[in-house]
Amino acid sequence: MYGYERAEAICDSEQRGMEPFGFVLDDEMFNAVISVYCVFLMEKLAEMPTEEPMAQHWRSVLAQAPSLTSPEQPDGVYDLGQQEVQELFNKGIVSEGDSILDIGCGIGRLAVHLAQRNVTYVGIDPIRKCIEFAHESFADYPNCSFHHIDLQNSFYNLSGTDPALLRLPLKDASFDAVLAVSLFTHFESSAECQRYVREVHRVLRERGSFYSTWFRAPPNHPNWDGYRTVILESEILNFFSGFQFAETWGGNTKDYHDQWRIHAKKVSGFSAKILQRMRAMRSFFIFREYLE
Ligand SMILES: C[S@@+](CC[C@H](N)C(=O)[O-])C[C@H]1O[C@@H](n2cnc3c(N)ncnc32)[C@H](O)[C@@H]1O
Repeated sequence: MYGYERAEAICDSEQRGMEPFGFVLDDEMFNAVISVYCVFLMEKLAEMPTEEPMAQHWRSVLAQAPSLTSPEQPDGVYDLGQQEVQELFNKGIVSEGDSILDIGCGIGRLAVHLAQRNVTYVGIDPIRKCIEFAHESFADYPNCSFHHIDLQNSFYNLSGTDPALLRLPLKDASFDAVLAVSLFTHFESSAECQRYVREVHRVLRERGSFYSTWFRAPPNHPNWDGYRTVILESEILNFFSGFQFAETWGGNTKDYHDQWRIHAKKVSGFSAKILQRMRAMRSFFIFREYLE
């Protein structure tokens, strides 16, 4: 209630023979009270936490990034990346001290949230300008490196080697975790997917984590258009011989960001070929530990 309204209310109550409530503020007093209150509010606002400088830095870096075909805005790229990396830690897919390979790293969306952790990060991608951007943006982070791989893709890199013949220039059993986020959703053949999963298996350490995202059918309709590739769930599962599923989630709708997320762990002792034969012979229950 403003000062003059309060004064009027007191006059009213006096006229009606009631006890006046409160006290009368003249305009000068009223302005003084309001000024003190404004100063108090401004001090409180100044004390409120603002976004940390590192987040501001990365938001402005990402705003300069070459655009992928993603519909997200820079802030969305930052926030979604943060959520996703937090989830990777919460679910134990990555941990402090890990060496991490990010296949199809793009502009380093996930690297932004891994760079300050105690991890070693390697990103690879066929888009040269993304890798150049990442080299520049992560120059102060010696724990992060980015490499161009010249692999063909109808949307991202027209010239280049057939990805179905991929041989990653990386040592066997050299990573604790491999990430492939929105990678298989752009592949154009089953042979490509199979080849990549085999290579991931080769470069992962025993019990290492493989985190990948997919559009699966159902609920989507299968297609290999390379823009939003959808693969039959049973076919996706077949790519994973030599892995044990730790957890799968998401992918229940046809929404753009609702991809099926798979956390699988490398298991060995048997080659992928032998595992496939065992499965075919229906003797896999004996070796369930290796096949689940
Ligand atoms: C939608 S973006 C996702 C980028 C990144 N993983 C992320 O989550 O922000 C797909 C990425 O996959 C890369 N890519 C496409 N075909 C590839 C291939 N055959 N091998 C490796 N990366 C590929 C593209 O260049 C692009 O950077």
